[in-house]
Amino acid sequence: MKLHVLVVVVAAWATRAFASRLQGRQYNSGTWGSNGTLAYSPPFYPSPWMTSTGEWADVYAQAKDFVSQLTLLEKVNITTGVGWASERCVGNVGSVPRLGLRSLCLQDSPVGIRFTDYNSVFSSGQTVAATFDRNLMYARGYAMGKEMKDKGITVQLGPVAGPIGRAPAGGRNWEGFSPDPYLTGIGMAESIKGIQDAGVIACAKHFVANEQERFRQAPEANGYGFNISESLSSNVDDVTMHELYMWPFADAVKAGVGSIMCSYNQINNSYGCQNSKMLNNLLKNELGFQGFVMSDWQAQHTGVASAAAGLDMTMPGDTSFNTGVSYWGANLTLAVLNGTVSAARLDDMVMRIMTPYFYVGLTLDEPEINFSSWTLDTIGPLHASVGANIQEVNYHVDVRRDHNVLIRNIGARATVLLKNSNNTLPLESPKFVAVIGEDAGPNPLGPNSCPDRGCDKGTLASGWGSGSSDFPFLVTPDSALQAQALADNTRYESILDNYATSKITSLVSQANATAIVFVNADSGEGYLNVDGNEGDRNNLTLWHSGDELIMNVSALCPNTIVVIHSTGPTLVGGWYDSPNVTAILWAGLPGEESGNSITDVLYGKVNPAARTPFTWASTRASYGADVLYEPNNGNAAPQDDFTEGVFIDYRALDRTNTTPIYEFGFGLSYTTFSYSNLVITSTGAGNYNPTTGFTQPAPTFGDHSTNLASYQFPNSKFPYIKEYIYPYLNSTDAETASMDPNYGETVEQFLPPNALSTNPQPLLAAGGAPGGNPALWDVMYTVTATITNTGDRNGEEVPQLYVSLGGPNDPLVMLRGFERLSIDAGGSATFTASLLRRDISNWDTVQQNWVITNYPKTVYVGSSSRKLLLSGTLDGIIIRH
Ligand SMILES: *[C@@H]1O[C@H](CO)[C@@H](O)[C@H](O)[C@H]1NC(C)=O
Ligand SMILES: *[C@@H]1O[C@H](CO)[C@@H](O)[C@H](O)[C@H]1NC(C)=O
Ligand SMILES: *[C@@H]1O[C@H](CO)[C@@H](O)[C@H](O)[C@H]1NC(C)=O
Ligand SMILES: *[C@@H]1O[C@H](CO)[C@@H](O)[C@H](O)[C@H]1NC(C)=O
Ligand SMILES: *[C@@H]1O[C@H](CO)[C@@H](O)[C@H](O)[C@H]1NC(C)=O
Ligand SMILES: *[C@@H]1O[C@H](CO)[C@@H](O)[C@H](O)[C@H]1NC(C)=O
Ligand SMILES: *[C@@H]1O[C@H](CO)[C@@H](O)[C@H](O)[C@H]1NC(C)=O
Ligand SMILES: *[C@@H]1O[C@H](CO)[C@@H](O)[C@H](O)[C@H]1NC(C)=O
Ligand SMILES: *[C@@H]1O[C@H](CO)[C@@H](O)[C@H](O)[C@H]1NC(C)=O
Ligand SMILES: *[C@@H]1O[C@H](CO)[C@@H](O)[C@H](O)[C@H]1NC(C)=O
Repeated sequence: MKLHVLVVVVAAWATRAFASRLQGRQYNSGTWGSNGTLAYSPPFYPSPWMTSTGEWADVYAQAKDFVSQLTLLEKVNITTGVGWASERCVGNVGSVPRLGLRSLCLQDSPVGIRFTDYNSVFSSGQTVAATFDRNLMYARGYAMGKEMKDKGITVQLGPVAGPIGRAPAGGRNWEGFSPDPYLTGIGMAESIKGIQDAGVIACAKHFVANEQERFRQAPEANGYGFNISESLSSNVDDVTMHELYMWPFADAVKAGVGSIMCSYNQINNSYGCQNSKMLNNLLKNELGFQGFVMSDWQAQHTGVASAAAGLDMTMPGDTSFNTGVSYWGANLTLAVLNGTVSAARLDDMVMRIMTPYFYVGLTLDEPEINFSSWTLDTIGPLHASVGANIQEVNYHVDVRRDHNVLIRNIGARATVLLKNSNNTLPLESPKFVAVIGEDAGPNPLGPNSCPDRGCDKGTLASGWGSGSSDFPFLVTPDSALQAQALADNTRYESILDNYATSKITSLVSQANATAIVFVNADSGEGYLNVDGNEGDRNNLTLWHSGDELIMNVSALCPNTIVVIHSTGPTLVGGWYDSPNVTAILWAGLPGEESGNSITDVLYGKVNPAARTPFTWASTRASYGADVLYEPNNGNAAPQDDFTEGVFIDYRALDRTNTTPIYEFGFGLSYTTFSYSNLVITSTGAGNYNPTTGFTQPAPTFGDHSTNLASYQFPNSKFPYIKEYIYPYLNSTDAETASMDPNYGETVEQFLPPNALSTNPQPLLAAGGAPGGNPALWDVMYTVTATITNTGDRNGEEVPQLYVSLGGPNDPLVMLRGFERLSIDAGGSATFTASLLRRDISNWDTVQQNWVITNYPKTVYVGSSSRKLLLSGTLDGIIIRH
């Protein structure tokens, strides 16, 4: 036990002592002993400085010009949040009034603007993933970005690839896209391009292996009665890190994402926001990330160590909410002055913030932020943390445009038709529709009555937590279906209480009933507990006795249609194959137009083509990975060993030859399609050359005085706001100014070797450009197939490309391409996908590079991960490096 504690503390700092002691230990070992040999994250220093390559070259020069004019205090201001609720946004950094730069405003959420009014609420990431439609993913990002821009927001805190969805019960999986890294990677890239094209910086989060809510932060876990002193450690081997968890972040970097948020959890026993292996080595060096890393809110645990490990911005700036002190702010000013953080590192932080700032088109003359996160009143405190400066803080700017049209369209195009016996759907002027279930109706107290949607009342159109936002309206299924019924002169009755058993019984047993049962399962962020679910779901069954409701209705009604709103898979084994359950639809979390979206699908105005972005297994155990619910390391950091490696979701079921109920990628249409004519063409792409050479030495921009007197609060009239974080010092005595009882430990005690180096650094073989070695993105093969609509309705189809890499440790198949095609009845279209070098490569832990193995490689094109209708091999035409 003692050793555990020692390892945890020291590894978190990644000191030289441990680096040498553990020299022989392989980061890539894949498994770790549980008897004293905890997973370990090796040190990597110095933190890579940004370069002026690629698309960002022009704005790099602009940023350099700006940053070169800044004083040390101004630089620190840009890196440090001003404290929780000290300004209008969920995060604000300090400003540079002298040069006209107002505070950067960082705002939730990945589905639209949190904490304001007159904004739209979009579908969840997981829901838009189900469209398998790049254009819709982009359009959603662009529309959200436009709304953010118009409220004065600088950084949208999304999209999400961590969690990716390792455990189906993971509370925030819905904020991300899919447990498949390829699909998530596309979702990330398209969302980022959309958001940034609209003029705000996107933030890819949470880096990395942030796969469960439970134990993500020790104080939160303490509040739930768990006596742990440190956050959970996600223990991930090198291959799994590259091939699964980092994969979508590579897409994000390649797409030009401006910021990345490091996560609360530890990775191999080093905190996400001070993990030099993850931030310096993998993210900034190997993936060539040129933007800034911000901490999750209160995920920073050290000052100098986090700076050395690659953190560029602390959020919300205070050590924990409203302490009035910071690991950075005055401490960062001092650290640069006393040499524990190099001037080059600080300059790099600011360059990494200002370059994407200019890249997305932001200027030094941005309009004011026109809302306050802390009140919906027009008049309120500017500094809500202390209730100071009462003024007009909300201008109630309506930023929605006609985004409801897009949201309705995405909701419909994301609805997965899982079952449709005897062409029950689409409905055509049915005689009598009986809508059953609380999930069809409104929350009687209003759609925003539970803060951050921390309840499951009425129809579920969003999960809970900081990843949600306030609805401008919420169209319920009941209201939309009733409107349709009135138009059709259909008899319509709804019962919106799951427990009104006798009323339901008498209604659905009447002749000619088409019963539509709405059910749900909710989850969200760990700071809210809903019905005993502390973020993560406790189980995979439906809420409010949904399964019983379906069984009761279908026992009486031979035409029972089920609609599920959920944050992930539920166990449907108890009822899905009942002949009376004639149709099943998964509608995800559709956002504000929920009722209209589902009505469009049920009535055939939209012919469904969505695909389930996760597996529906018959048991929870089949998923192979789950939430760690109990601490397993005494009072120290719980150890979450990702022993399943890359085998999550469909890869887990494929490995154990377990038949799912609905496999990843599955979804029906109201028409039918045939697949033919697979053609695989080698592009003759060149060889893969490891990147070699060295960086330039670290540049510095501007000079600074070393006299502490230059860094004091400006003067006695300075409008000091309590709890606000400033870059200034309160004393000319460094120790007094730091307020740190441990101030002044020597650099040797304090920092690992090379942390302060500004010398040229070797480039990594797998690195070299944003997204990694540019040749990883070479198109190696073009794959085409002919898809024919063999039915009598126009429709859309999502052909999917899977590959088998053929090795003993490779998944049976992995998604590596898809396209959503619109094909008229009787017509054909060509499916085209590009196989990139990365798509057919494995991470080699010895070479520390991607390689194409000698194992035979097979390409499949099909309509789901198990309907692999066409296949061909890459044998003989592989170009090896
Ligand atoms: C402890 O771990 C070491 C190294 O992995 C192993 O050799 C040894 O058998 C383990 N002991 C126990 C009691 O599990
Ligand atoms: C730092 O930011 C604060 C808050 O925006 C501002 O009041 C202050 O003037 C800034 N300091 C400098 C040196 O620009
Ligand atoms: C938590 O565990 C520590 C170490 O065992 C112990 O000292 C402390 O009293 C415990 N706290 C609570 C609230 O149980
Ligand atoms: C500096 O950081 C230490 C923790 O490392 C903290 O205790 C102290 O209050 C901080 N000082 C200021 C002025 O924020
Ligand atoms: C659906 O079709 C099957 C046979 O094709 C039949 O046995 C069953 O009764 C039909 N169900 C309904 C609800 O019409
Ligand atoms: C309505 O139900 C009755 C009694 O079962 C049946 O005879 C009739 O065909 C049904 N009509 C429709 C339109 O389903
Ligand atoms: C699963 O959790 C939900 C939500 O807390 C609860 O309503 C339901 O009863 C639970 N199911 C089981 C089988 O315990
Ligand atoms: C299907 O519904 C009929 C009533 O129409 C009922 O008699 C039968 O038992 C139901 N079947 C199942 C499997 O629930
Ligand atoms: C710094 O000085 C101000 C007054 O100028 C005071 O209100 C504040 O508490 C001091 N802050 C710290 C961190 O000591
Ligand atoms: C330098 O400043 C930082 C931030 O206040 C402090 O933590 C560290 O102990 C100081 N080190 C030295 C050598 O003065």
